[in-house]
Amino acid sequence: MRRKLVVGNWKMHGNRASNAELLAGILGARPFACDVGVCVPFVYVADTAVSLATSEIRWGAQDVSAQEQGAFTGEVSAAMLRELGCRYAIVGHSERRAHHAEGDQLVADKAKAALGHGLTPIVCVGETLEQREAGQTEVVVKRQLSAVIHALGHCAGEMVVAYEPVWAIGTGRTATPEQAQAVHAVLRAQLRAATSQADTMKILYGGSVKPDNAARLFAQADIDGGLIGGAALKASDFVTICRAAG
Ligand code: 13P
Repeated sequence: MRRKLVVGNWKMHGNRASNAELLAGILGARPFACDVGVCVPFVYVADTAVSLATSEIRWGAQDVSAQEQGAFTGEVSAAMLRELGCRYAIVGHSERRAHHAEGDQLVADKAKAALGHGLTPIVCVGETLEQREAGQTEVVVKRQLSAVIHALGHCAGEMVVAYEPVWAIGTGRTATPEQAQAVHAVLRAQLRAATSQADTMKILYGGSVKPDNAARLFAQADIDGGLIGGAALKASDFVTICRAAG
């Protein structure tokens, strides 16, 4: 039985006061029966590290540079994140693929850089509505995951995968548990072909996970938890989702 994992992706939200309140709400609800993490804006990683230092709640960033160090203005390296105690770095989120033109190879390089410094990359894959309607869902997610599997080689088993259908993100239109499970099964099969660790790897679902739909999603055989956007910004909602994973 895989232990479930629920990670909040705060995206570009929050301020010091609201973050402190949110983290206090999460800390106050412990213990959880699943693993819990928050991926915060870069500038709040240090504060978050202080707030969560003595807890088992994990923290991370929403992106990471593929580069080690050097003249890369605006970039943040995996080593820097690790120094601040980050456990996770999200890579390949659809918002970065769409708004920052990140392609499969760059996402794979970022995952590799993260892993190289002891961070667990949370690798996001997912199809657009247009791709789904054209029957391309499998092809798209397999292509996205394949680039990362190839880059990580024998370490592929160490990543966390997140299936996030683009059409379900921030739209309130969740994939049905069956739709999500079908894609998760495809991803699990692809991982099995690549690594002997596939059955212990976590595949998260993301896209309009809310307190009222989380339990049904998490009950699916290959859904090992969630990557939560909007509902991760309110402690009571996020905590309810974490409980649904327990
Ligand atoms: P929402 O939960 O707001 O749909 O966002 C999902 C997401 O993008 C998490 O990374």
